[in-house]
Formats: sequence, structure tokens, C-alpha cells
Amino acid sequence: MMFAASSASSASSASLVSPGLSPARSSADPSALHDGTSAPGEARTDAPAQCARTAALAALCEADPATKAAAARTLYADVLEGRAACSAHLEFAEPAGLPGRPARPELVDPRQLTRRGMQSPQGRAVLLHALAHIEFNAINLALDAVWRFAGMPAAFYVDWLKIAAEEAYHFSLLSARLAEYGHAYGDFPAHDGLWDMCERTRADVLARMALVPRTLEARGLDASPPIRARLQQAGDQASAAILDVILRDEIGHVLIGNRWFRHLCEGGALDPYETYARLADQYHAPKLRGPFNFEARREAGFDEAELAALTALAGLDASPVAPAEAAAPATPPSADS
Ligand SMILES: [Fe+2]
Ligand SMILES: [Fe+2]
Repeated sequence: MMFAASSASSASSASLVSPGLSPARSSADPSALHDGTSAPGEARTDAPAQCARTAALAALCEADPATKAAAARTLYADVLEGRAACSAHLEFAEPAGLPGRPARPELVDPRQLTRRGMQSPQGRAVLLHALAHIEFNAINLALDAVWRFAGMPAAFYVDWLKIAAEEAYHFSLLSARLAEYGHAYGDFPAHDGLWDMCERTRADVLARMALVPRTLEARGLDASPPIRARLQQAGDQASAAILDVILRDEIGHVLIGNRWFRHLCEGGALDPYETYARLADQYHAPKLRGPFNFEARREAGFDEAELAALTALAGLDASPVAPAEAAAPATPPSADS
């Protein structure tokens, strides 16, 4: 369980470190990594070779998707094995042109994207490409949380490096599957909605936690079961199996978002419900709409009051929505990572 008492206490004690005051190697302390989602005790106490936040920014700048994905996975392994650590106090000037990305896919308005049925191989390739693009953006988003927000507890950076590594894995799974359809990432146009929210929340870590993992990624939890069902109906078991892996990991990402959102609310003596509503309004978050994956959202740390609010919104009863019961979404994949 990720919200064990030891996790909460290590996070709150680490939060006392303020920007500019924390020692450069504070995250090399194994206790600081004891967050329940990372690998407690695995970091060594000897001096790390590199700052993982600096390396995260370098990976974010990388334009080649495969190289970026490999860098994200290597970086998380380096932190777990003590070859890198996060210097929480460092503040970086933002380089121009973030995030690094390839010349293709062409980025267009979402309304310009063609939608195709999943019965045809071409339609499934378009879907897999859209999902790969979401994962590519999700790598960027996770790396961005690591370099951008100084003064957070060490466990925050490790959590987001873990997410970056898992998004990179998702991207590689989808790219490989796309290749089996004779396509590559970049072959179809895409939209930029996920990075757009990243930019809007660039100056506010609380808003970032509220609106990226626990809003956009949580929408992915809702969207995943019906997409998976349609792939299975089309006979594409291999792609459906990838969706299973992604859903499993995304529950963990939303859980991390919930955890840090609540941690920041507690630190600022903010009511989490009112704060979420205020931020959603202020930053023009997409309106939530059902059907909701209550089971996954519960697992991802939304509490009963939040689930009840969604129930009211969706006009549904409070019982969890089983994947088979979830209606196909009105629009094609809106899973946001
Ligand atoms: Fe993902
Ligand atoms: Fe994610």
C-alpha cells in the first residue's frame, strides 16, 4: 500500500527542505527514497555521479523518441542503483523549444484528426499511433515534473522518474506493435493537448498534480476498458494485452498524482476538494464526463467523496463499472497517457 504511515512521514519530513537550502545530495539518503512506490533502501550512500534532475531535462530536450525513451528508463535505473540522485535545490533556466520532439508527427487541431473504425488494420494502426503519441507526451510530462519543480521531497522526483520510465516502456510497446502493422511513430498526424496542460501549469506544481495525473491521466483510466474491448472485438489480442499493461501502470501514476496533490494541499492547509475545483476552473481543465472506471479510480487513490461526485456527474449509481459494461466512448481514444 502506497500510503503507508512510513511513506507519509518520510514525505512530510522531506517537505521541510526548502528551495535553496537543501543539500545537493539529500536524495542519496535511502530514507528519503522510502516512499512506498520507489525502491526503499536501494540507493547507495556514496556520492552520486550525476544529478538526475539535470539528466531529466537533457532527456526532455532529446528529439529522437527512441533515444528519449531509452534515456528515461536508464535514468530511473541509475537513481535506483545510486548512480544518480536528485538535487532538489537546483533551479534551471528553461531552454527554448521544449519538449524535444521529432519533425513528425505533424501536430494539428484535434478536430482535423480522422477517425476510423477499429475493424480495419488501418483503423487500428491509427489508434495505436494515437496511443503512442500520448505515451510520448507522457514521457515528456513526467521528465518535466522532475527538472521543473525545485524544493520538493526526494521521493517526488523518484516517483516521477518511475513514471517517465513506465511511459517510455508503454511507448516502446506501442511502437513495436505499430511496426507490426507496417507503421512507425510519426506516420499519422497528432494533437498536442497533453503538453498544452503541461505548459499551462508550468509555474504551479499543485496545479500540475491536480490537472495532469489526477485529471488527464485519470481520464485514461476511464477510456482504457472500452478501447481494449474494441480491440479484442476486432481480434487484436496483442494490442489488447498492451492496453492491460498500460492500465495497470497508469493506476500507479494517478495514485502518485493523488499522493502529491494531497501532500501539497496538507502543506498549504488547503481543502483538497475546493482546491481541485478552483484549479480545474482556473486552468480550464477538460470537463469530466462518464462513463468512469470507478474501480480503477478507487485503486488510484480517489476517495469515496470524489467518487460520489463523479457518480453524480455521470448520473450513474455508485457501483464500479466493469470493463464489459463500459460503453464505447463517443470519441476515439482520449486516454491521456
Ligand atoms: Fe502511459
Ligand atoms: Fe501515465
